[in-house]
Amino acid sequence: MLKNGISASMMCVDFKDTKKDLQALSDAGIDYLHFDIMDGDFVPNYALGPCMINNLRTATNIPFDIHMMVEHPEQKLEYFDLKEGDVVSIHVESTHHLQRVLANLKKKGIITGVALNPATPINLIEYVLDVIDFVLIMTVNPGYAGQALVEATLDKITELRAYLDKHNKGNIAIQVDGNVSFENAVRMKKAGANNFVAGTAGLFRKDMTIVEAGTKLRSCI
Ligand code: DX5
Ligand code: ZN
Repeated sequence: MLKNGISASMMCVDFKDTKKDLQALSDAGIDYLHFDIMDGDFVPNYALGPCMINNLRTATNIPFDIHMMVEHPEQKLEYFDLKEGDVVSIHVESTHHLQRVLANLKKKGIITGVALNPATPINLIEYVLDVIDFVLIMTVNPGYAGQALVEATLDKITELRAYLDKHNKGNIAIQVDGNVSFENAVRMKKAGANNFVAGTAGLFRKDMTIVEAGTKLRSCI
């Protein structure tokens, strides 16, 4: 099960002083560290990877949430030293073998999610509902921090919540990723989101500290 709460977008940390940001994220009671794995192919950018994840294992007790923004994740997951209880999300658009990838992760005790780009319809998840703990709704097009919200994705969250209820899958959580600002978090929560990936809009801000932003964001969700 994916916990309700806040996942910190690790591509937004200050890499010059990662230790300081990790301490602040811990002080802020952040629920997960969200790692955007980008291959320059599925998304038009490169970011984060197995080295960073392995390196940070011993630096924090906050659980890991790994968002695979890569083509053919089934070929890349073996690069990762995954642990039971890790969270991993796989994009519908990234593989011909969605069910197999998710089922294999589930067998290893991974908390699994299926991710949808803004333009991808909800009904593509129908035949993987038995092998997922959550659905990740991209509320921006993946690849970059600091983008504007794709407004249509708010209705998509509402529709997804109704879709899950209709399929007797009310226990499946909804994670949202992209421009989770304080204002948008309120709207996303109202639409049915449970877990909020926070980057430049809601956590790593120039006008407040991580602890201040984390506290404010938590009051919005
Ligand atoms: C977008 C990334 C997000 C991003 C969200 O591709 O997946 O995790 O960092 O943070 P914002 O939109 O608030 O900068
Ligand atoms: Zn992400």
